[in-house]
Amino acid sequence: MTDQVITEINNRVLTITFNRPDKKNALTHAMYAKAGDAIRDAAEDDGVRAILITGAGDAFTSGNDLADFRDTPPIGTDTPVRRFLDALVSAEKPIVAAVNGLAVGVGLTMLLHADIVYASETALLSAPFVDLALVPEAASSLLLPARVGHARAAEIFMLGKRVPADEALTMGLVSAVYPADALMPAAMKAAAMLAAKAPKALKLTKMLMRGDKDVVKTRMHEEGKYFGEQLVSSEVAEAITAFMQKRAPKFE
Ligand code: COA
Repeated sequence: MTDQVITEINNRVLTITFNRPDKKNALTHAMYAKAGDAIRDAAEDDGVRAILITGAGDAFTSGNDLADFRDTPPIGTDTPVRRFLDALVSAEKPIVAAVNGLAVGVGLTMLLHADIVYASETALLSAPFVDLALVPEAASSLLLPARVGHARAAEIFMLGKRVPADEALTMGLVSAVYPADALMPAAMKAAAMLAAKAPKALKLTKMLMRGDKDVVKTRMHEEGKYFGEQLVSSEVAEAITAFMQKRAPKFE
């Protein structure tokens, strides 16, 4: 079991912390697997009534580990990342995210599946899929335009725009913004409040607010098909090589 994801249950709140700060909490297959298992286990555990997701250090997560993308691309429907995303979409218990810094790629798209999203003033959200020659995932091609509008979503997906916390708040991507040292206390307070509320009423409310999960899952699978095809393309090879070589990619 990787210690690059820390899970703990306190006062009926499961806290999942991405803990690979030297790599800005880039998510490896093992990290997705552990986080996904924790969310699935929470579904069966009456001792958990709310889930809190955050990152150690100064980043929430810089998204999928790019070396994993290059060396063991997650292709197909039964991959750790897909199981993590499925667990998020299927979660019936409320999810609080504490975005403590950079949130890149899935770092942003997973927020679309959280219920309360608190960000620190230092948070910077981006989903530069096209910069990596990829396509959006986690049903974000459906959920992000629905949340912020097509034109703003296109800046994020297509131009790779980075959205600072105050703008993310205006867009409705986050619920509130806090000074860095006030973020975790606020997120823990919200999670504790949720854990004390009537669980069935919360579950029903989340279900009603989330709408048809099959629509979301269908889009996620459609995205997954194109994502998998792109992952093994020469475009992605160039994008990842350029990142490793700390240079700009050249798409001829
Ligand atoms: N995968 C693998 N390694 C990553 C990573 C990722 N997604 N994000 C950061 N890292 C590594 C860097 O390679 C670097 O490693 P090193 O110290 O061994 O050189 C370390 O984490 C710190 O990152 P660095 O780039 O030096 O920090 P920064 O503050 O200048 O920039 C980011 C941070 C997140 C903006 C930048 O690292 C980045 O763009 N990462 C890629 C993000 C991405 O494309 N994610 C996938 C989305 S689908």
